Amino acid sequence: MDDYLENLLAGKSQGSNKKPDLVFLSLLLGLLFSDFWVVSCVKWDGVMVSRADTQVLQAIKHELVDFKGVLRSWNGSACTGWAGIKCADGQVIAIQLPFKGLGGRISDRIVELQSLRRLSLHDNFLVGPIPATLGFLPNLRGLYLFNNRLSGSLPPSISNCPQLQTIDISNNQLTGVIPPNLANSTRLYRLNLSYNSFSGSIPPNLSRSYSLSFLALQHNNLSASLPDSWDTTKLKSLTLDHNSLSGKIPTSLSRLVLLEELDLSHNKFDGNIPDELGSLSYLVKMNLENNNLDGPIPESIQKLQNLTLLNLSNNRFSGEITSSLSNLPNLTSFDVSYNKLSGAVPFLLSKKFNSTSFAGNMQLCGFTASDPCPSGSQSSPEPKHHRRKLSTKDIILIAAGALLLVLLILCCVLLCCLIGKKKYSSKSSKGGAPPSASRAAKAETAAEGSDAGGKLVHFDGPFVFTADDLLCATAEIMGKSSYGTAYKATLDDNNHVAVKRLREKITKPQKEFELEVCNLGKIRHPNILALRAYYIGPKGEKLLVYDYMASGSLASFLHARGPETTITCPRRMNIAIGITRGLCYLHNEANNVHGNLTATNVLLDENTDPKIADVGLSRLMTSPATTNVVATAGSLGYQAPELSKLKNATTKTDVFSLGVIILELLTGKSPSETKDGLDLPQWVASIVKEEWTNEVFDVELMKDASSNVGDELLNTLKLALHCVDPSPAARPEAQQVLQKLEEIKAEAADVEVGKSE
Ligand SMILES: *[C@@H]1O[C@H](CO)[C@@H](O)[C@H](O)[C@H]1NC(C)=O
Ligand SMILES: *[C@@H]1O[C@H](CO)[C@@H](O)[C@H](O)[C@H]1NC(C)=O
Ligand SMILES: *[C@@H]1O[C@H](CO)[C@@H](O)[C@H](O)[C@H]1NC(C)=O
Repeated sequence: MDDYLENLLAGKSQGSNKKPDLVFLSLLLGLLFSDFWVVSCVKWDGVMVSRADTQVLQAIKHELVDFKGVLRSWNGSACTGWAGIKCADGQVIAIQLPFKGLGGRISDRIVELQSLRRLSLHDNFLVGPIPATLGFLPNLRGLYLFNNRLSGSLPPSISNCPQLQTIDISNNQLTGVIPPNLANSTRLYRLNLSYNSFSGSIPPNLSRSYSLSFLALQHNNLSASLPDSWDTTKLKSLTLDHNSLSGKIPTSLSRLVLLEELDLSHNKFDGNIPDELGSLSYLVKMNLENNNLDGPIPESIQKLQNLTLLNLSNNRFSGEITSSLSNLPNLTSFDVSYNKLSGAVPFLLSKKFNSTSFAGNMQLCGFTASDPCPSGSQSSPEPKHHRRKLSTKDIILIAAGALLLVLLILCCVLLCCLIGKKKYSSKSSKGGAPPSASRAAKAETAAEGSDAGGKLVHFDGPFVFTADDLLCATAEIMGKSSYGTAYKATLDDNNHVAVKRLREKITKPQKEFELEVCNLGKIRHPNILALRAYYIGPKGEKLLVYDYMASGSLASFLHARGPETTITCPRRMNIAIGITRGLCYLHNEANNVHGNLTATNVLLDENTDPKIADVGLSRLMTSPATTNVVATAGSLGYQAPELSKLKNATTKTDVFSLGVIILELLTGKSPSETKDGLDLPQWVASIVKEEWTNEVFDVELMKDASSNVGDELLNTLKLALHCVDPSPAARPEAQQVLQKLEEIKAEAADVEVGKSE
């Protein structure tokens, strides 16, 4: 069925369609309603909306003010042609009209669209209230009304929607209290009420949701103290800044084990920072500025090893800045200004951060040259303990203490080593080694937005989306390979992700698949495309979510550009070096073999830095499927000759492919086109054999090639030919290729410098 559909779509995209290059379709329709998808593809614009739903849509249109005329297409009874409407089985399931310049109100009659899953009208000029009838839509999963001018309160009925995953109504003019039972939906994943005028207190119910990952209530008029019943173990981000919240910071916040961002700034909190917050080991940002907090800065903050931002400014903290804070390895932003801190600023902190971080503390010294600490009081301005002789008992105690300390340190070192080892061993090729426990737990608990039996698992990355967000995204086909189809998906927040839909028939069974995919989710290198999430649908459909690379593949960059764009020699060298770095990491650190390295599988980011794609995909597939792919790659000219017999890719076959890519960069010729019956490596070798000639190089490179650039090109060419040696044993390892490329680059730079001197 898959092939049939894809052929259909391919035909569609090249055929007589008005927009020949773009085939828009929703992944949702493709996955959750695959039967419907068939219908909608065969009769592309012949899907009827039920009469009742048509009438409701007309009523909704009637209450909107359509400045730009985008709703003119809402006529007749063909659902697919209607701007922003998606249907299944004749029922409207999604209304998506963001950034359409719409004014007016949202009609109460929306409740009559009982199949509605998603209402997305953000970034318009809507006024009036949020209809209370929304609470009676049993299938509603996503409510995206942010950046409008809606007023009134958030209707409490909304807590009736059992499927709700996302509520983002931020940046409106909403007032009233937060409905107490909002977290009743056991699937609520993201709640964003920020930038409104909500008042009252934060309902305790929100602090106990088992599904909530993002809670954003900043910039409102919320008051009273925080509930002290925090137990939302999936919460990653809690932003409550710019309100009038008061009371103590509750100790129970320490139970938010996955918390990465905590912002309580610009409120009226008082009391100490609870010591227990030191257990929030994933915390990256902690902002407590502009409150009335006092007491010392707790020693336990040094345990927050992932912290990059710590802002405690404009409070009443007192005591010394503990030197253990200098041990936070990732801290890049630190501010304790305008407090009552005293004593000397720890040396390392004063080196790393300038005076802005420490200003406004009358008794703090040593952070500027103009304000040195009085000599002798380097560490403590407090009254000196009067000296006295140590008793034998004291000495024994001190010795015992020291011994204990040494033992403790030894234990720590051992533990660190063990953990370190585990992390690396999880990269082992067998996939059998247990992944680092905490990471695994994170991936496991991060699974959310399960939808109709589907499962979405996020790895670390910048994206915020639920399964439904993903499936409702507008998707555009980017390309197809033997493993599946790649889409560019546009999420509701206008971010793009690349989604690979794998061919179901050839993927491994779910258990093995998940084991492998979790290992792939851990591979992180600047030159390898990061796998951010995967989704397994109720019928076993499998999606992989990657960063979207705007500049496309190296193949299209090289071969499908206008005559006016030239690619300079340094740029080509950088691309070659980047790919080689990625490959080195893959071979040496990740213990992986690519097996299908081609210029189509190398993507470029906005700086044209290369990222190797499709890493480890073969491990997700059954072995006959993998063999098949290797065969296709061969026909494109990247395949090492021994692969036709061997069947199994090795690091040496990868190096062969790398060599072909470098030749491609140098010659500007695609390996898929042969010359005089020779493939690219043979052709280059034949020319080089006759005489060292510049004829192999891309003419573009020769135009501005001064003699030294010529050397650079020739040496790179030799290296590439070495990589494509027919004998695997003669080929270098990726590491050696990298070393050589870097030498060549450094020599070229030397010559440049020499020239300009
Ligand atoms: C219905 O919409 C289509 C597409 O925008 C338009 O071409 C057509 O004139 C419209 N028909 C009516 C009756 O408004
Ligand atoms: C919440 O909404 C604000 C304003 O629209 C936005 O800046 C912020 O990123 C959102 N946060 C989350 C977690 O959705
Ligand atoms: C201190 O550093 C910050 C950020 O690095 C910068 O914005 C600020 O201007 C600096 N202040 C002084 C006094 O140098």
